[in-house]
Parts: sequence; C-alpha cells; structure tokens
Amino acid sequence: MREYDTKDGVMLIGGVPATDIAEEFGTPVYVTDADLVRENYRSIHGAFNRHLPTRVHYACKANTNLAVLRLLQKEGSHIDAVSIGEVLTCVKARFDPGKILYTGTNVTDSEMEALLEAGCRINVDSESQLERLARITTDVPLSFRVTPGVASGHGAKVMTGGKGSKFGIPMDRIVGCYARANELGFRVDGLHAHTGSGGNSIEPFIDVAYVLCDLANEIEDKVGIKLDWIDIGGGFGVPYRPHEPALDLDELAIAVTNVVKEESSVGELAIEPGRYVVCDTTVLLARCVDVKDAGPKKYVGVDAGMNTLMRPSLYDSYHHVALANKMHRACVAKYDVVGQICESGDILARDRVLPDPRAGDLLAVYCAGAYSFSMSNEYNSRPRCAEVMVIDGRAELTRAAEPIEDLWRHQTIPEALG
Ligand code: LLP
Repeated sequence: MREYDTKDGVMLIGGVPATDIAEEFGTPVYVTDADLVRENYRSIHGAFNRHLPTRVHYACKANTNLAVLRLLQKEGSHIDAVSIGEVLTCVKARFDPGKILYTGTNVTDSEMEALLEAGCRINVDSESQLERLARITTDVPLSFRVTPGVASGHGAKVMTGGKGSKFGIPMDRIVGCYARANELGFRVDGLHAHTGSGGNSIEPFIDVAYVLCDLANEIEDKVGIKLDWIDIGGGFGVPYRPHEPALDLDELAIAVTNVVKEESSVGELAIEPGRYVVCDTTVLLARCVDVKDAGPKKYVGVDAGMNTLMRPSLYDSYHHVALANKMHRACVAKYDVVGQICESGDILARDRVLPDPRAGDLLAVYCAGAYSFSMSNEYNSRPRCAEVMVIDGRAELTRAAEPIEDLWRHQTIPEALG
C-alpha cells in the first residue's frame, strides 16, 4: 500500500492538500493522482517487455474514467474490454479500436454487430459465439478464450479460470475451435486465458503460461495454425494493507516470459492488468458526519457508503482508512466506519483505530482506484459522486457529481396513472 506525504498533519495527493480538494469539490469524491497511474503502467509494462515483447491491455472495467483512459492511451496502452459500453468509452478517450480486445461472456449477436462496427477485436468465449459470429462475418482476425483449469483471486467470487467455469472454452474443446475457425475462413492469431483477480502468488501466472504454450503447440501440430501471441489475462494483486508485501512483479515477469520463450515459438505476450494499474492511484474522500458510541461498538458515520464503494460489503475487502486532516496522530479507540445506506452491511471499514474522530473530519479510503467508482451505484437514490484528477500539481474535476434529476431522467410514469 502506498503511503501519502503529509504537511501539517494533512494528507497530500499529488502535492495538493486533501482538505483543499474536499473543500473545492465536495464529498464524497474520488481523487486520482495522474503520476501514479503512469508509474504503475510503466512498471508493469517494463517488467515484462524487457524480456519479451508485451502488450498491456488495461482491463478498463477497473476504472473507466475518461481522463484515466486518455492518460493510458497516451502511454501506448491497449485495452481489455467486456462490453460495447467499455469499447465506445475507450474510443471516446481516443483509443484506436484496433488496440481494443473485447472478451465478453454471453455475447449477443447485436452486441457483436456493434463491436464489429466499432472496429475492435473479438476474443471468442464459446463455440456458439463462433458460429453466430461467422453468420455475421468471417472477415476479422480472431482469438479464443480458454478455460485453463487454473484459478486464482482474492475470493471465490472473482476466480474465473477453474475447470467448469462459465468463462471460456473448455480445454478439451479448444483445439477443435481453431480447426472450426479455420474451416469457416477466419484468420486466428492468438489464445487467451484469465485465471481470476487479485491473487497474491505468482504460481497461477506460471501455470497458465504453461497451459497456453502447450495449447499453442498442439494447435500448431494438429491444425497448422501458428499463433502470434498468447494472453495470460490479468489478476496481478496489490497490497491493500499497510506493510503488506507486494507481488514480486520482476520475478513473476521473468518466470512467465521464460516459460513462453522456452516452451513455445510465440513471439508476443499480452497481459491484462486492471487493479495493478489503477488501484493505489486513488483515494476516496468522505466527510465524517456523526460519531456514535453504541455500547459495545463505536461508529464513525461518513457521507459515503456501499453505494460509493461496494467492495467491503460485497467481498469483505479490506481498504485502509485514515483521517486525512489528522495524519500520524495517536489513535485512541477502535471504530467501524459506516455509510448512509439503510443496511447494516453498509460498513466501509471494521475495527479501525482512528485519532479521536469528530464530525467534520475528512476520511480517506485508500486503494480506491480499481473496481470502486466503476462499481458504484445509486442505491437509496443517492446519485454517484464526483471524480477528480490531480495532474501537474492541480486538482481538476474529471466527472461531476450526478445531480438528483439524473435519478429519474430515464423514467416515465404511464399515462393511465395521470
Ligand atoms: N482480464 C479479464 C478477462 C478479466 O475478467 C479481468 C477482471 C481482468 C483481466 C483484470 O483483472 P485485474 O488485473 O484487475 O485483477 N470487482 C472485483 C474484481 C473483478 C475482476 C473481473 N475481471 C474486485 O473488486 O475485486
């Protein structure tokens, strides 16, 4: 987990006091430090590309803020997208559609038509999808997603690569898909797998590299297709807790690229990090509204909640918290940090020591750049909050807080109801 600089006890984000940002843009607000996004992108790209030509397909489901996307586009990133909405958002951020690899699941014909129209590449997830795509066109390059029989991740809800998963084509049928695609007249040049998200060990990456190399060799032997690239997916975990060790990216990259070089003749690797690129670049700032002593428990109530940041409620995920206006002060008691949503599960952080929290203090939730704003919602009719980027020492609004009117903008009352 990244530590933040402070000045006079106030957290600095890209050099700007968090308290000034909260004052100027209101709370809750997600604040991203642009330099950290660049730094993360360069570090993961460099770790692999030093050893084997590697494309980074940023998994934009983690964070589709247009400013973040534009920044990554300028870095030369490619994209992993899962919906036509993500594809068009990336095009809006000026990504070349040819750099977008779409890996959807249960993809409809109309979505495939829209994807082809947008000009992105399609990574096929099932045999039915292949046949349905062939009815639309065969004049596109293709790749397939295999279920590699390797699962990883921070919890069962985010493991995708195990045998029997809903994602990808089972291993024993994947070679047949390449033969069928050949027969249909497609040009097939790659093979993809994704084991899961947020794991903290390097073994699954090595295991999946072996699986993909073996399959690439088998495809070449049996079908005569020589693949140009394999894609090991994303899932690079990051530390969410203070002092938690980080994944050894250099060791991981060396191990994976060695497998690819030794076990196959594939010349290019693709990786799909989402969390790694954006997670620790962003904090969520929320205002402390109420402090309650409820007997066995003490609560700090803030103006954000499971609507703003779902991960703690949904996955029991740990996000570090601190009072951004009282950094490094001695902590006296433990609190649960809770939100405004009418559910007892609306807890952002459990049993945290905080320095005498008071109404008006500013809470910072760390590691809120990945799957945080992108999973936020309007539950309890609370519109989505603002996003800010600190760039070149200046805090700029990149997404305004949604106005209340947005709640009913797309609703209509049937005439019969008057
Ligand atoms: N590639 C594919 C095909 C994926 O499905 C995913 C994530 C990624 C890449 C990127 O994985 P990453 O590098 O970010 O771990 N909402 C959950 C995470 C869901 C991940 C879904 N797929 C969370 O908040 O932890």
